[in-house]
Amino acid sequence: MPLHMPPPTPHISAQAGDFAEAVLLPGDPLRAKHIAEHHFDDARQVTAVRNMLGFTGSYKGMPVSVMGTGMGIPSVSIYATELIAEYGVRRLVRVGSCGAIAEDVKLRDIILAVGAGTDSQVNRRRYGGNDFAAVADFGLLRAAAQAGEAAGISIRAGLVHTADLFYEPAAKPFEIMAKMGVLAAEMEAAGLYGLAAECGARALAILTVSDHLITGESTSSDERQTTFDDMVHLALEALLLDALSLDAKGLDAKGTRDRGKP
Ligand code: HPA
Repeated sequence: MPLHMPPPTPHISAQAGDFAEAVLLPGDPLRAKHIAEHHFDDARQVTAVRNMLGFTGSYKGMPVSVMGTGMGIPSVSIYATELIAEYGVRRLVRVGSCGAIAEDVKLRDIILAVGAGTDSQVNRRRYGGNDFAAVADFGLLRAAAQAGEAAGISIRAGLVHTADLFYEPAAKPFEIMAKMGVLAAEMEAAGLYGLAAECGARALAILTVSDHLITGESTSSDERQTTFDDMVHLALEALLLDALSLDAKGLDAKGTRDRGKP
């Protein structure tokens, strides 16, 4: 990864050590603020370049950060690259929304993105022109599934489609995706998973269904907020469980896949 600049970086004004090794990544910076204010203890703002707010605090004693990413692979890639390469972030959990593709996926469902197909070229560029399998980190995925069960939050786990275009001009490709078991469409997961693989970090995308691309239904903003808070709770519990399981194995929070600073 061609990036060697000491903090602050071009897009993050925090100092070295301002971010925890675990970071939640909502698209909307005001959602980052909401998470810091409602889910963290002792939160402090650490960056605000372009109003892309970032905060660090703790959750049940675990140091944790949150930062907005903007929308789409290019935007999330800028922030995640700088967080990993220059701020020592090793666990990244996207908390976002998605549009349902599968008929049996309902509004407000919470989806764990096991893997992400995409129409973006970024992972081919990373992977010598070949098709990379963009998948979630298994430890984080398992921890999220366990945390969902423990909290009584029902979750779906499966494939998503990461789209470059929110407004597709062509015929919508959703029919073939539904046929192949893809649950929903969103705009970041495949890029985040590819980047994490490239940098030896660990990533998971958790998504709530904000609208249904086949039926055209969508959630109210109140419903979105409630589901969003359930998802954030799940993400934080998953990070905690994952940290405990690493601890029990005598590993540090970086996990087994840390290959040192990229
Ligand atoms: N497409 C891509 N991302 C989304 C959508 C969508 O329809 N809905 C929510 N996130």
